[in-house]
Amino acid sequence: MTVNILEARGLCYDYPDGTRALDHINLLIQEGSRTAILGANGAGKSTLFLHFNGIFQPTKGTMKYRGQDYKYQRRYLQQLKQRVGIVFQNPEYQLFSASVRQDISFGLLNMGYSSREAREKVNLMGEQMGINYLFDRPTHFLSAGQKKLVSLAGVMVMNPDLLVCDEPSAGLDPANTERFMKVIEKIQQQGSTVVISTHDVNLAYSWADQIYILDQGQVRAGGKPEQVLADKDTLAICGMQQPWILECWEELKKHGLIPAHQPPPRTKEELFQLGDRDLIGKSLV
Ligand SMILES: Nc1ncnc2c1ncn2[C@@H]1O[C@H](COP(=O)(O)OP(=O)(O)OP(=O)(O)O)[C@@H](O)[C@H]1O
Ligand SMILES: [Mg+2]
Repeated sequence: MTVNILEARGLCYDYPDGTRALDHINLLIQEGSRTAILGANGAGKSTLFLHFNGIFQPTKGTMKYRGQDYKYQRRYLQQLKQRVGIVFQNPEYQLFSASVRQDISFGLLNMGYSSREAREKVNLMGEQMGINYLFDRPTHFLSAGQKKLVSLAGVMVMNPDLLVCDEPSAGLDPANTERFMKVIEKIQQQGSTVVISTHDVNLAYSWADQIYILDQGQVRAGGKPEQVLADKDTLAICGMQQPWILECWEELKKHGLIPAHQPPPRTKEELFQLGDRDLIGKSLV
């Protein structure tokens, strides 16, 4: 049975200066799924995420967590924050302890883990994220990418029911992005549902089960990555490009180098396995 872990219905949000940042958003996140939210700068991604753990209360519309309407009361929101872990776009808003180890341990100790348990979990997370070497460093002296890694680690170590990462790969080098995606994979295998926002259409295409495209506070498209990202017109309206794998696949199909009935590949490995290699090789020389 599929369980809806999160649902937004007719969600609107106006900032105090009158800016309408979200305009009747409908969105459904199923338990165990991987959702990527795409959209140009200012589309409303961060504003939407701040509704997921109740930091923002909708101007209009509803948010549901596991079928229950959000209650904007202190106790409910405290409990919600233990289930919904958010990594902010700007790590400066997330890091406040003196050292990296203290920062990553903070949530666990707060939740009642013993210092030994917390230490073990933090060590493992540090190893997986490749940041143990930073543990004794003050958080405010870290580089921007290192701050991002530490802020991700501090939320992921809590194993939240729903993990929400706002532009997790922004500012990370390719090796750290790959490492982070592997940690996300593990967390998901342990039962978490994951939502990320990103400007990286290639990453979203290969990783997500479902994609939503936001544009000017509205959902312009939603569904399977290979469907949503095949629609070049919508992508262009929303200021986005197609993933290179899909572009390549369409080009190969157009030239008859792969059978037209093949479903689109999701990874570069799948793309390389498609079609007649001899034919492709001949056409390239
Ligand atoms: N504090 C604020 N007061 C007024 N308007 C705001 C405020 N914060 C954001 N906005 C506006 O709300 C809209 C949505 O902003 P938001 O930060 O959610 O976009 P985003 O999709 O996360 O963009 P980015 O890709 O740049 O992170 C934008 O028009 C932005 O200018
Ligand atoms: Mg943002």
